[in-house]
Parts: sequence; C-alpha cells; structure tokens
Amino acid sequence: MSMIINGLPAEVPLDPRVSLLDFLRDDLRLHGTKKGCDQGACGACTVLADGERILSCLALAVQYEGRSVTTIEGVGTATELHQLQQAFIEHDGFQCGYCTPGQICSAIGMAEEIRRGVPSHVTDDLDAPTMPFCAEEIRERMSGNLCRCGAHNGIVEAIAATFAALPEAEAAE
Ligand code: FES
Ligand code: FES
Repeated sequence: MSMIINGLPAEVPLDPRVSLLDFLRDDLRLHGTKKGCDQGACGACTVLADGERILSCLALAVQYEGRSVTTIEGVGTATELHQLQQAFIEHDGFQCGYCTPGQICSAIGMAEEIRRGVPSHVTDDLDAPTMPFCAEEIRERMSGNLCRCGAHNGIVEAIAATFAALPEAEAAE
C-alpha cells in the first residue's frame, strides 16, 4: 500500500490508527506540517490531497492510499518559493510562522474552490458565473485557519495579491 507525498512514493503505515499528520511528521520527518490542536479546530495541519485542502490531524493515513498528498515542502523550497509564500513575506503575513504552512496550503486549496465556483457562507449570488475573490470571501473561506499571532490582515492581503489578479488556470497552480 502506498501513496504519493510531494511527488514521491511512500509506504502507507500498517497501523490503521496512525493519523496522516503523525505519519507525515513522525514517519516521514516532514515537519513543515504543524500540529496545533490535533482535533480539527486550528487548521495548522492543513495539507492538500489531490488538490483539496484537508485537515491531516483528522485523517487516517490509510485513507489516503493511492492518493497524492502535498505538504508545504512540496509547495515551494527555500530557493524557489511559491508566489504565495513570497507574498506572505511582502505583506507581513506571519510572525512566529507556526500557522503559516497550513495557511498557505489552505489558501491554495481555497483558490481552487473559488475557481470551481464553490460558494461560501458570505457569497451573495450563488449563480454568479465567477465567484468574487474579495477580502470578505477570503476571510470567511480561511476562517478555519487560526493565527495566534494575529497576522490575519497580512494573510488576507497576501492571498488577495497572489490569487485575485491571476487568470483562473494560473490561480489553481
Ligand atoms: S492540528 Fe489539525 S486542525 Fe489543529
Ligand atoms: S504567525 Fe504565529 S500563529 Fe500565525
């Protein structure tokens, strides 16, 4: 049984009780994904599974057999940052950085949800051909990712600067 992690094959743990978060951090030593609450309340553990954002603390590793998982290590590197990572730097989107990997993975998944036309709780027109990419939508859609340092204003600015001005196909990358 295997899955793909950041483009590379990995053996799924035999113990079916192991969470995807613990598998990433403890077995694969991918410490970019953070453990905050370990109960689905903070978003620090957000990763992408086949492009969709998920909370890895609430997922069992065995559930993702055959799937492709992307962690922050697969989003960008220190020498080749994703444009959203660069925007977090430019817009002061972090302080301690603990929530940042989850914020970035979540925002990438969120941009794809908007591109697909998935409405949020604050979307006025559910039949609109394109979903708005405004600050109100970003705040609502990112409300599951908490920042204890209070960097939310910079986070929203960085996400807007990265995705709001991009063509649809590019925003999904
Ligand atoms: S550690 Fe998963 S939501 Fe907090
Ligand atoms: S930057 Fe410190 S928790 Fe968000």
